[in-house]
This record gives sequence, structure tokens and C-alpha cells, in this order.
Amino acid sequence: MEVNIGVIGYGYWGPNLVRNFSETAGFQVVAISDLDEQRLSVAKTRYPAIEVTTDFKTLLSDPNIDTVAIATPVSTHFDLALNALKAGKHVFIEKPLTETAEQAEQLIAEAEKRNLVLHVDHTFIYTGAVRKIRELVDKGDLGELYYYDSVRVNLGLFQSDVSVLWDLAVHDLSIMDYIFPLAPTAVSATGSSHVEGRPANIAFLSLFFENNAIAHLHVNWLAPVKVRRTLIGGSRKMVVYDDLEPSEKIKIYDKGITLNGNKEKLYKALIDYRAGDMWAPRLEISEALRVEAQQFMRCIVEGEKSPSDGKAGMRVVRILEAATRSLNERGQPVELN
Ligand SMILES: NC(=O)c1ccc[n+]([C@@H]2O[C@H](COP(=O)([O-])OP(=O)(O)OC[C@H]3O[C@@H](n4cnc5c(N)ncnc54)[C@H](O)[C@@H]3O)[C@@H](O)[C@H]2O)c1
Repeated sequence: MEVNIGVIGYGYWGPNLVRNFSETAGFQVVAISDLDEQRLSVAKTRYPAIEVTTDFKTLLSDPNIDTVAIATPVSTHFDLALNALKAGKHVFIEKPLTETAEQAEQLIAEAEKRNLVLHVDHTFIYTGAVRKIRELVDKGDLGELYYYDSVRVNLGLFQSDVSVLWDLAVHDLSIMDYIFPLAPTAVSATGSSHVEGRPANIAFLSLFFENNAIAHLHVNWLAPVKVRRTLIGGSRKMVVYDDLEPSEKIKIYDKGITLNGNKEKLYKALIDYRAGDMWAPRLEISEALRVEAQQFMRCIVEGEKSPSDGKAGMRVVRILEAATRSLNERGQPVELN
């Protein structure tokens, strides 16, 4: 089956969607829309056969287009996606799904009502590295998950419509949504803006879980070096995930502690340290967006459930909303339910 797709937004990320859909069996990119004529002429030079338009409605009214991919600024996501669903198109939409959880709910309801696929581009969960971590968690190799501790900083593109939480922390939240068996129960965030009138460009976010698991995310657009490093601690093994490593992105350490001795008098128990081997598993090296495009195709054609469907998108937006509230109240924890 051939799925004809139209892409809205050909700025920084849109070209990656066009390239990957063009190269994925079954998809045919037939149209691109961007408000910026210059971006459209770049698209036309690269893909002369693809129609281009400044009016996204042209894509929505085209009966030949089954599916729409949206790669525009976050503040435009809700309107564009709602219009696309109402026009009967399946939707592939950039992270974060929407600006509010309420909007996300509306999109989910609209997609369900019309039996359409709503898929959110939580790119990282389609990487070989994150899929391997999920496999380790599922098999119980890491044991009980104790913490997720991540640093995601660089001299990044300052966004004007969203804070660094919505741009960078969203990646960690989507990874955690995919690998953690439990959802967080509360969130606390602090952060600051160093450009007047702009949203926070540095933020620290803590997430609390019922079973004492904890997560900390440190995100920053104003860092002199690029770091993409996550430590995941479990009762049996620990993982270091460094996305900037060219091949050995994941290292698994057989390290940890065991309590030794007196169960009745726990305060007397000794902590024994375990320091075993470290290994770096072989990872699937396909581009995440390619794996994701294939997944999206299976959702459309075979009715498979997407691991980053509207509900996953909404869970992430709910945390981002709560974190934003907390940030505005200098870290006051906000309960999630
Ligand atoms: N998955 C990822 O790893 C990843 C990476 C970067 C960006 N993104 C996401 O992609 C989205 C876009 O980010 P970007 O960095 O490419 O932004 P960008 O500003 O570079 O590009 C957005 C483009 O959308 C166009 N646009 C805006 N409104 C439009 C409309 N109504 N119709 C047609 N075109 C319209 C703009 O002209 C612009 O060219 C954001 O949601 C962002 O979070 C995701």
C-alpha cells in the first residue's frame, strides 16, 4: 500500500522528516508546506517532483493525501493537528505534542473518533540505544530502577515560544515514559532566563516516584560544551548512556551495593560493594527517524499501536505543564495524578 504524505514545516527539523519518509518503503512525500518561500525553494531544489505551497490548507483539502507530518513551532501544533484530523488525515507530529494536556486530550479524542493514527515524534525512543535500555529493563537485567540522572546541555538554539524544558527535557521525559515501568507522582523544577522577556534557558527538574525511584534532568541552551549523558541506576546493574559516543553509546556496569548481615538491626548492617565487569552491547545503528517511519507505517496499515501515540505525548505534556508551574514557583513540587 502506498501512503501519500504531506509535510507542514520545512525549517530545521522538517527536512529530516521529508528525507526519511521519502526513503521509507510505502511512503510517498507528495507535498510540502511552509510559510517561508525561501524554505520552499530549498525543498523544490532538493525534490523537484514534490508540490510546494505556503498554505497548509492546500494539503488538507487534497484527497490524494492520506497523512500529514507536522514540524512547525510548538505553539502551532494544536491548530494544525486538529485541522488535519478533521480533514481525515493521519497525523505524525513533532514533540512536544501540544502546549497543554487539555489540547492533547482533544487531539486524542478527535483521532479516536475518526479512527486515525496520531503519532508523536519522540525520536529518542526509536534509537538503538534507548531500545536496548528498554530491553534490559524489561528482562530485569538492571533490577529495580533507582534513578535516572541526565545532563543535556549545549550552546543551543534559543526558542522564543517555549522554555528549554519543552525543547530538551521533553527528550528525557519521553525516554523515561518508554523505559520506566511507573509514572512519576510529582515534579519540581527550577530554572532561569538570561535573555529578557524570553523563557528559561537553563532548568533543573526533579521527578519523584512512588517506589523511591527519582529522576533529575539538567537542561541548558547556554553551555560552552555539548553533553548528552544519562546515568540509570538499578539494583542489579547500572547504565551510562552517552549519546555523543560514536559507537559505544551504552555501557553497562555490574556495580552496586548489597546490605550484609543483621536484618533485625538494619542500622548495623554493612554495605558491601560489588564491582564487576563493564560491557558495551552491540546496538542497532539504523537512523531513529527511519525506524520510526516504519513504525508509523505499521500503525497506518496494520493498526499497530504506536509506542509514542497521542497518550504518550499527553503524559509528557502533562509533566511539562506541571514542571513549568513549579519553575514559576521556584521549585515548589507539583503533584501529578
Ligand atoms: N524530534 C527532534 O529531535 C526534534 C528536533 C528539533 C526540533 N523538533 C521539533 O520540530 C518542530 C519544529 O522545530 P524547528 O526547529 O524545525 O523549527 P523551525 O523554526 O526551524 O522550523 C519551523 C518551520 O515551520 C514553518 N511554519 C510555521 N507555521 C507554519 C504554518 N502554519 N504552515 C506552514 N509552515 C509553517 C516555519 O516557516 C518554519 O520554516 C518543533 O516542534 C520542535 O520541537 C524536534
